[in-house]
Amino acid sequence: MTDKVQRITSVFSSSIGKKLIVAFTGVILTGFVVGHMLGNLQVFLGQDKFNTYASFLQGLGELLYVVRGMLLLAVILHIYFSIKLALENREARPIPYAVKKYREASYASRTMHYSGIIVFAFIVYHILHFTLGKVHPQYYHYIDPKGRHDVYSMVILSFRNPLISGTYIVSMFLLAWHLSHGFSSLFQTLGLNNARLRPVLGTLGTLLAWAVFAGYVSIPLAAWTGILKLPPGVLP
Ligand code: HEM
Repeated sequence: MTDKVQRITSVFSSSIGKKLIVAFTGVILTGFVVGHMLGNLQVFLGQDKFNTYASFLQGLGELLYVVRGMLLLAVILHIYFSIKLALENREARPIPYAVKKYREASYASRTMHYSGIIVFAFIVYHILHFTLGKVHPQYYHYIDPKGRHDVYSMVILSFRNPLISGTYIVSMFLLAWHLSHGFSSLFQTLGLNNARLRPVLGTLGTLLAWAVFAGYVSIPLAAWTGILKLPPGVLP
């Protein structure tokens, strides 16, 4: 093995290397989550603006597939190395605590795994719902006055169903929870945890996570309560 290859494999096999990959992919995915939320908030600008945005994304063609591929790779690496780190931590402590008294860090990482699994399940459900129209297909096949896929009506009709809104709101709560704990792990991995910086960064991370929650949740709430109106001719 050459020196370079050896150095690369040792980064992947070291604990800090794995943590850096989880942190880096987490930052990429957070970037998507924030961008997607800002894009979705255009639903408040009305049917035409929102469908223009949706059809612009669809029109990206090959670039869209490149971005999708990168996101998928980021998700796979994020999950794979999180599981590897968890398994290594378990191996390093083969005898469970006699009394179930977890330290703060292990409590956070346990909830990270549960919230992460549920957020992943949500993403699969969400893509089957809005991108592929395989679940709740009754809301998928609307066409707007300009002949485009009526994503605006699909979103509002879906969220008028309390079960669907509820599922999204709970999932987004867990996403925000995952992000807020993720930020503190990120700062720890990067060594940004000195006594003065830690509380400031922690607060900023928590604020960003709950701003993401508020931004996303405003959409099902507005659809559910009738603040977001269906276009004329589209019936619930
Ligand atoms: C109120 C909340 C949300 C709304 C209204 C929403 C809306 C949408 C819509 C309309 C699409 C389909 C775009 C299209 O195919 O034209 C979509 C796709 C997607 N959404 Fe969301 N979304 C929400 C929350 C989320 C969250 C929290 C995540 C991630 C954690 C997420 C991840 C995705 C992904 C990965 C896709 C597939 C993108 C692609 O086509 O490759 N969404 N979303």
